[in-house]
Amino acid sequence: MRGRCNGGTRSMGLHIGIDLGTSGIKAVLIRDLSQVVATAARPVAVSRPHVGWSEQDPDLWVETVFACLDELAATAPAEMAAVRGIGLSGQMLAALVLDADLRPLRPAMLWNDQRAIAECAELLARVPDIGRRTNGTPDPGITAPKLMWLARHEPRLMERARMLMLTKDYVRLALTGEVATEPSDAGGTQLLDCRTGRWDPALCEAVGWDAAHLPPVLDSWAEAGRVRPDLLARWGMAGPVAVAAGAGDNMGSTLGAGGARAGDAVLTVGTSGVACIVDAAFHPGPERAILTSAHVVPDVFLSMGVVMSATASLDWVGQMTGRKVPDLDAEATGWVAAKGPADAPLFLPCLSGIRTPLNRPDLLGRMSGLHPGVTPAMLAYAAMEGVAFQFADCLAAQDAVGARAERFTVVGGGTRSRLWLRLLATAIGKPIGLIDGADMAGPRGAARLAAVAAGGDVALLRETVPARQTVAPDPALGAALEARRAAFDALV
Ligand code: XUL
Repeated sequence: MRGRCNGGTRSMGLHIGIDLGTSGIKAVLIRDLSQVVATAARPVAVSRPHVGWSEQDPDLWVETVFACLDELAATAPAEMAAVRGIGLSGQMLAALVLDADLRPLRPAMLWNDQRAIAECAELLARVPDIGRRTNGTPDPGITAPKLMWLARHEPRLMERARMLMLTKDYVRLALTGEVATEPSDAGGTQLLDCRTGRWDPALCEAVGWDAAHLPPVLDSWAEAGRVRPDLLARWGMAGPVAVAAGAGDNMGSTLGAGGARAGDAVLTVGTSGVACIVDAAFHPGPERAILTSAHVVPDVFLSMGVVMSATASLDWVGQMTGRKVPDLDAEATGWVAAKGPADAPLFLPCLSGIRTPLNRPDLLGRMSGLHPGVTPAMLAYAAMEGVAFQFADCLAAQDAVGARAERFTVVGGGTRSRLWLRLLATAIGKPIGLIDGADMAGPRGAARLAAVAAGGDVALLRETVPARQTVAPDPALGAALEARRAAFDALV
């Protein structure tokens, strides 16, 4: 049968996985789900017209994805011709409203847009148990409060709204002409009952969104459409090319890192940091601002503790100091090895508020303990340390509500820093596995979904990914962190 695993040798053919991150889009063309043939990556800009606002032009997502596919076609035309499936994973929780022609009415409001704070209180008052029915407690990052904000502040525009789209669903629409979503990402709208995976008309009514203006919900690994003929011609594809329903980015990265069984924990260190725990049961934690949705593997959920600014914090230090992040990392590593971290300032890295466990979107970042000896490298250390502390806080909160992490893997751009990995392992007190291609876990997870959508067996979603190496907690660093932890806690 096409796509079945076959005694270790298998012929799955060629697939493309695409991850739509907040700061960049990555695509991988992969053979037999193991051999990378070509990759393409391009940045995308975020617009921040006011403090707390965060928006992107949805057509820029499409243009950038198409440019990545043009690049793959130019690099590997023969393999591109034989591609069978495309999978997409994308940044979650956006609010993108389309008109009757399925065109965006305004820029998308992103997961770190904090303007809808008042609407969260209103929604909670209308649906007091919303945190136990949906992915979590109302948070301005989530789609539903943003829709309420738009209805209040841009009512004329919202009268023309006819469809709600999530990031990767909008790109799939451009690739196939089909409107659809799937439960992992749809859970983030707070209009979906996360236990059943169905839109909830009562929630739609509470938010003021017409349930008729929602896409159908398919299985994440289902074929949600096929690449349009003109695009097949553009990329030299023989076709047909199935496009999977896809995944929220955290589910895509977790899958790409082999996180599929209860107890698997994948720490994604990207623009945001997310402690993703695969769970056999639905363990909501609204009082700790934990997000819980369906995973993209049958019969399991994903518990997410969210650190709002992970690589975003380190990048910010880079911008402020005019230094490149790899240089800062190298200097910080040398400095900690020589002196230990005691002289570094403390950094509360909440440039976009704190989600898990405090639900304080209003909090601003803080740097404390500045003295004349502070260097850019010490600021970079403080950012990495603060993020590591926040990951530990997320895992403690998730454990408290019953989402238990047993085996840890780390993925995302932050894995390029060895120091950061050591800080993470030490702060959480557990060894962490590092896989090959840790900054490509999202596209790899999306490619797995593509393989199933194109006819592969669903068992492909449960295949493990071996760790290339393990990063262990560092006892000496642990003692130093313990001394700094109380002062860090006092910053909130
Ligand atoms: C998760 C979250 C972010 C976005 C970023 O809940 O808000 O991780 O998915 O891409």
